[in-house]
This record gives sequence, structure tokens and C-alpha cells, in this order.
Amino acid sequence: MKSKRVIVYKFGGAENLRLIEEVIPEPCADEVRVKILTAGVSLADILMREGVHPESLFKRTPFSLGWDIVGIVDKLGNKVPSTNRWRIGDIVAALPIVGGYAEYLCLPYNQLVSVPSGLDSVEAVSMILNYTTAYQMLHRSARIKSGERILVHGAAGGVGTALLQLGKLMGLDMYGTCSRNKEKVVSALCGKPIDYKSSNFVQEVLRLTGDGVDAVFDGIGTKSLLRSYKTLRKGGRLVGYGFGSTLKDGHHQGYQILSNVLNWANVLTLNLIPNSRKVIPYSIQTLKRRKPNWFREDLNLLFNLLVQDKIKPIIAARIPLNEAAKAHELLEKGSVIGKIVLICNL
Ligand SMILES: NC(=O)c1ccc[n+]([C@@H]2O[C@H](COP(=O)([O-])OP(=O)(O)OC[C@H]3O[C@@H](n4cnc5c(N)ncnc54)[C@H](OP(=O)(O)O)[C@@H]3O)[C@@H](O)[C@H]2O)c1
Repeated sequence: MKSKRVIVYKFGGAENLRLIEEVIPEPCADEVRVKILTAGVSLADILMREGVHPESLFKRTPFSLGWDIVGIVDKLGNKVPSTNRWRIGDIVAALPIVGGYAEYLCLPYNQLVSVPSGLDSVEAVSMILNYTTAYQMLHRSARIKSGERILVHGAAGGVGTALLQLGKLMGLDMYGTCSRNKEKVVSALCGKPIDYKSSNFVQEVLRLTGDGVDAVFDGIGTKSLLRSYKTLRKGGRLVGYGFGSTLKDGHHQGYQILSNVLNWANVLTLNLIPNSRKVIPYSIQTLKRRKPNWFREDLNLLFNLLVQDKIKPIIAARIPLNEAAKAHELLEKGSVIGKIVLICNL
């Protein structure tokens, strides 16, 4: 039996994504074969495609992108323990980091998380990278308390909208930077928009709040990190997690990646100053490797919030697997609001 997947043929632009057909993969002894229903498309995929994401630095082409997937258990390896809960037909979620742009993927059985029945697989897949990142930054990194005041950068983006939705559930006082044309999205999610292009966000936050915020979530990186730190009030936490500002005309600038690393080194030294403010780097993959149970617990909790309609991911587009390059081009334009999802099997 044949199956399709999209490969990065060589590092570079979206034109280097190719659809190939090959023999359907067989699960190794401790693996489960998943028939993928949906795969998320993210900025991290674009960084990986260009070979500049830390997770792609030691990777060789060709390989398949795809950080997060939802699918159906299709076949069990012969050493998957019989006490293990997976059965053919179960709906599962995973964060494989690579390999999601495919019809089938084999994964270690202990990497899968159960998806409650009845959930839309497009909404469910949005919980994995964006919402788990947002949830863990709020609760595991910043240890946010009800009623605190936060600043969210890229507030109309995938992680930004997830932060606002989860922050609203905790009654947070929220500010969000975004382009002017995305202000309505931020307001609708109870964030107070700050147009970072026509104003200085540090001055704006201090003007609007008086003494700053309890936490900033910065997926922009480079020089934004130090400026974000300046918006913190006493006891404030800066959680940094991305390379958003390295994108220019849809491509990542090598010198800006280096600049991001240097800015990080600089901003982390601020932790040596005894002024009760903290800088905290966040990486979903690092935390998952260190604390796999947290990933499972947090994703379960998010699925439950989704079942109860307490959160609602914004879906920018549903695109067939064979149009993955189109999905990347769309994301690279910077006008996308919410999550782009690939439909891998109908
Ligand atoms: N560390 C981790 O574990 C982790 C996990 C997930 C994502 N990430 C990273 O987090 C970042 C955001 O991901 P995402 O999926 O939310 O991306 P996204 O959906 O593309 O959103 C990014 C948003 O940032 C806005 N933006 C761009 N430059 C900005 C600036 N200078 N100031 C304020 N906003 C700006 C963009 O829109 P406008 O400028 O038009 O408003 C866009 O809405 C990416 O770098 C991604 O790789 C990291």
C-alpha cells in the first residue's frame, strides 16, 4: 500500500517542498502507526524548512516537516505492551516536531495523547503547539496568578490569541501588540491593543498602566527582549520564546538569528541584578523532553477546555496536504490570523 508525504527536498524557500509517494511505513516494535487527519503549520516549520531552527541544525534533507498532528491509531508494533491503552481506531495527538506533513507516521506509543471523542481534528491539532506553549508559559514559566497584568506580543498570532483566551479565563488584565488591522481581533479576545508599528510599546505600556506589567510574553526576540523587560513592574517576569522578528519578506535573515542569540545572552545577564524581575526562556520541546508528564497533563487539560467550549482556536485556513507549499506562502505573508491546518486524510 502506498502513502503520501511532503518532504523538504533542500533547505530554503517554499518551492523546496515536494509531495512524494512511497510504501506505507511499518511501525517498529514499540511504535504505533498513526493515520494522520490533521497537521499544524507553524512559523517553526518555516524555520526548519530554511534550516535555521535549532531542531533542524543537525538534520539532513530530505525530511518531512510537521510539529503537531492529530490522527487515528492504525497499527500497533509487536512489542507495544498489551497493558498499553491504545487500540486501533483511537484518536490521538502528538508533537513529533518532524514528520507530520504526511498521511501516515509511526511514533513511539508513549508519545501519544488521547483526544476526547467528538472534537474537530482541526481544532484539536491547534491545542498542541500553540495552546500548550501558551498554557505552559502562563502556568509553568511565569506562574501567573488571577488578576495579574500581562503584555502579549504578536497578540493576533497563533500563540498570542491562545495566550489571550487562556488569560481571559484567569481574569487577567491584558495588553497585546499587533498591527493596526488586527486590533479588532485582539479587542475581541479582551486584550487592549497596542499598535507597535506607530507607537513605542514600552512608553505606551507605561503610560497606560502607570507602573508596567507582571509578565510579558515575547515571541519576537532580538531587540524586543530588552524593551519588553523595561515594561515589567516589580516582581515581573519576561518569558521569551521565539524568533518572530527574524522574518523579513517571508524569509529569515541569518544575521538576525545571530543577533537574537546575542540579545538573549545579554538579556539573561539581567537575572544577576537583584531587582526582583526575572527573564525566563521557554521552549516546548525542551520542557517536553524534561517533563513529559507536564506535556501530557497540560494537553489533556486543554482538550477538556475545548470540549467545554471555554476556548475556541481561530482557524485561518484548512489546506490539503498536497498544497503544503501554498500554506507556507500564506504564513510567510504575515497576514494570517490564527492557525493554518493541513488536512492529511479526509
Ligand atoms: N519556544 C517555543 O516553544 C515556541 C512554540 C511555539 C511558537 N514559537 C515561536 O513563537 C513565535 C510566534 O509564533 P506564532 O505561531 O504565534 O506565529 P504567528 O501566528 O505567525 O504570529 C506572529 C505574530 O507576530 C506579529 N508580529 C510580527 N512582528 C511583530 C513585532 N515586532 N511586534 C509585535 N508583533 C509582531 C504578527 O502580526 P502583526 O505584526 O501583523 O500584528 C503575527 O500576528 C514564532 O517565532 C514561533 O517560532 C516558539
